Amino acid sequence: MTLSLRVAIIGAGPAGIYAGNILNRQVTEAGGEVSIDLYETLPAPYGLIRYGVAPDHPRIKGIVNSLHEMLDAGTIRFIGNVEVGRDVTVAELRERYDAVIFATGALKDAPLDIPGIDLPGSYGAADFVAWYDGHPDVPRTWPLEAQTIAVIGNGNVALDVARVLAKHPKDLLSTDVPANVVEGLEASPVTDVHVFGRRGPGHVKFTPIELRELGEVPDVDVIVNDADFERAANDPHAEQLFASNNQVKVMTRTLNGWRKPADHEYTASRRLHLHFLHAPVEVLGTDAVEAVRFELTRPVGDGSVAGTGEFVDVPVQAVYRAVGYASSPVADVPFDEQRAVIPNAGGRVTDASGEHLPGVYATGWIKRGPVGLIGHTKGDALETITNLVEDATSGSLPALLVDPADGEEVFELLESRGVHYTTWSGWLALDAHERSLGEAFEPHEVYGEIVRERVKVVPRDEQVGISRDGSLVVS
Ligand SMILES: Cc1cc2nc3c(=O)[nH]c(=O)nc-3n(C[C@H](O)[C@H](O)[C@H](O)COP(=O)(O)OP(=O)(O)OC[C@H]3O[C@@H](n4cnc5c(N)ncnc54)[C@H](O)[C@@H]3O)c2cc1C
Ligand SMILES: NC(=O)c1ccc[n+]([C@@H]2O[C@H](COP(=O)([O-])OP(=O)(O)OC[C@H]3O[C@@H](n4cnc5c(N)ncnc54)[C@H](OP(=O)(O)O)[C@@H]3O)[C@@H](O)[C@H]2O)c1
Repeated sequence: MTLSLRVAIIGAGPAGIYAGNILNRQVTEAGGEVSIDLYETLPAPYGLIRYGVAPDHPRIKGIVNSLHEMLDAGTIRFIGNVEVGRDVTVAELRERYDAVIFATGALKDAPLDIPGIDLPGSYGAADFVAWYDGHPDVPRTWPLEAQTIAVIGNGNVALDVARVLAKHPKDLLSTDVPANVVEGLEASPVTDVHVFGRRGPGHVKFTPIELRELGEVPDVDVIVNDADFERAANDPHAEQLFASNNQVKVMTRTLNGWRKPADHEYTASRRLHLHFLHAPVEVLGTDAVEAVRFELTRPVGDGSVAGTGEFVDVPVQAVYRAVGYASSPVADVPFDEQRAVIPNAGGRVTDASGEHLPGVYATGWIKRGPVGLIGHTKGDALETITNLVEDATSGSLPALLVDPADGEEVFELLESRGVHYTTWSGWLALDAHERSLGEAFEPHEVYGEIVRERVKVVPRDEQVGISRDGSLVVS
C-alpha cells in the first residue's frame, strides 16, 4: 500500500520539528507522500530553545541552524500563533488529519509544597527564565531588589538561574537578551546567590560543562562549604557513582577544586555559593521573604537522604525554586496529572482504559516528562514516528471526516475566527528583523562597541505584525 498522509504536529519545539523531519523521511523513503502542518501557539518556532535556553549559551545555535534547515526545506508547514485547544479544537484537527502528534513540551514550574512558598519574593525559575528569554506572555518587568538570593534545586535550570542572577549585565550584552532584561539586571543590587541541593555533591543533576562554566563567570567567586562535603563523605552510593559514571567523576573533581582553606580571601564583587545536603522546609517572612529554613540531611547510602534534625535559617530577600518543569494539559487530550504527561505507549496516546486513541501520538517532554537535553527529543520522535508509520501501514489510522482539498481549508477556518496565524516566511521576516536590530545596536555608553547577533522582539503583537506584513519593521 502506498502511503498518503496528512499529519498535524502540535508544538514547534525540537521534539515537534524532529518528528516532522523523521516522518517526512520515513514516508518518502517508503515511496509514500505526506503533508505536515506544524502548529505553534507562539508566533515563532523553537520552543524552549528560544524561550528556555540561557542567552549566554550560544553554542546551542548549531542545533537551531539544523532545525531551521528542516523547516526551510518546505516539507513542513509552520502555522504559528495558534493555540490548539483554544483557537482550533483537537476534534477539528482529528477530522482533518490522519494523525495528530502532540509535542507541547513544558513551560511552567513544578510545585515546591512548603509553607511560605507563596510569599512575595518567592519565584518559580521557569517564570524568571521566561522573563530573561523574552517570552511574550510574561510581564516585561521583574523585581530584582534582593541583595542575597536562594536558588533551590541542583539541576541545570538552577545553574542557569543562579548564573544569570549573579552575572554582571555587561557580560550578557553580546547575547540576544531583550533591552528590558539588560535594564532590569543593571538595577539589581545582588551580591550573593546561594544554590541549595537536598542531596550531596555526588548526586547533583548538573552536567559537567554547565557546572565548570560557573567558575568562569567574570568577577563572581564560587564558594563551597567543607561541612557539606564532610557530611557527604562515606556514602557508598556516591562512591559507586564516582567509580562508574564519568560525568559524576568530572563534576565531583570540579566541586572539590572549589574547596579552599578557611583563610582564603575571595576578591570578586559577587559570590555564588553552592550548598549540599540542605532540604528546604519553609520560606520564612511576614509580608515578604526574609529567610529560608533548611533541614540538614545526610546520605543514607542508597542515593537518598535522611533528615538530621538540625535546621538552619539562611537570611535572603528572594528565593527561586528550580525543582523541575511541569507540562500543561491540552483540552480534550488525556493527561496524567500525577506525572504531568500525556499518557502513551511508545508515543501512542492512550485513554483512561489504556487503549490507544487511534491517530493520536505524543513526543518530547510531553511524552516522557521534563528531563533531558534537546538531542534526546530526536530519539523520542524516532520511536513515535516509527509507531505512527506502522499504524498507517497496517491501516489502523481513522478516516478523514473533512475533505482536505488543497490543504488551504485550515487557513479559512482560522481566518473565520480572527486568528492572526503566522507562517514560515513570517518567521524569516521576524528573524531578519531581530538580526537587523542586533547589527544596528548602538555602542554602549559605558562598554563601547558590542557585537550582537540578534535582539529579540518580545511583545506578541509586534512579533505577529512583523511576521504577517512587516508593518512594524523599522529601517
Ligand atoms: C530553562 C531551560 C534551559 C535549557 N537549556 C538547555 C540547553 O542549554 N541545552 C539542551 O540541550 N537542553 C536544554 N534544555 C532542555 C530542552 O529545552 C528540552 O529538552 C527541549 O526543549 C524539549 O523539547 P520539546 O519540543 O519536547 O518541548 P518545548 O521545547 O517546550 O516545545 C514545545 C512547544 O509546544 C508549544 N505548545 C505548547 N502547547 C501548545 C498548544 N496547545 N498549541 C500549540 N503549541 C503549543 C510551546 O509553545 C513550545 O513551543 C533546557 C530546558 C530548560 C527548561
Ligand atoms: N545547559 C543545559 O544543557 C541545560 C540547561 C537547563 C536545563 N537542562 C535540562 O533540562 C532538564 C530539566 O532541568 P531541571 O533543572 O528543571 O530539572 P532536574 O535536572 O530534574 O533538576 C531538578 C532539581 O530539583 C531538585 N528537587 C526536586 N524536588 C525538590 C524538592 N522538593 N526539594 C529540593 N530539591 C528538589 C532535584 O533534586 P533530586 O535530584 O534530589 O530529586 C534536582 O536537583 C534537565 O534534563 C536538564 O539537564 C539542560
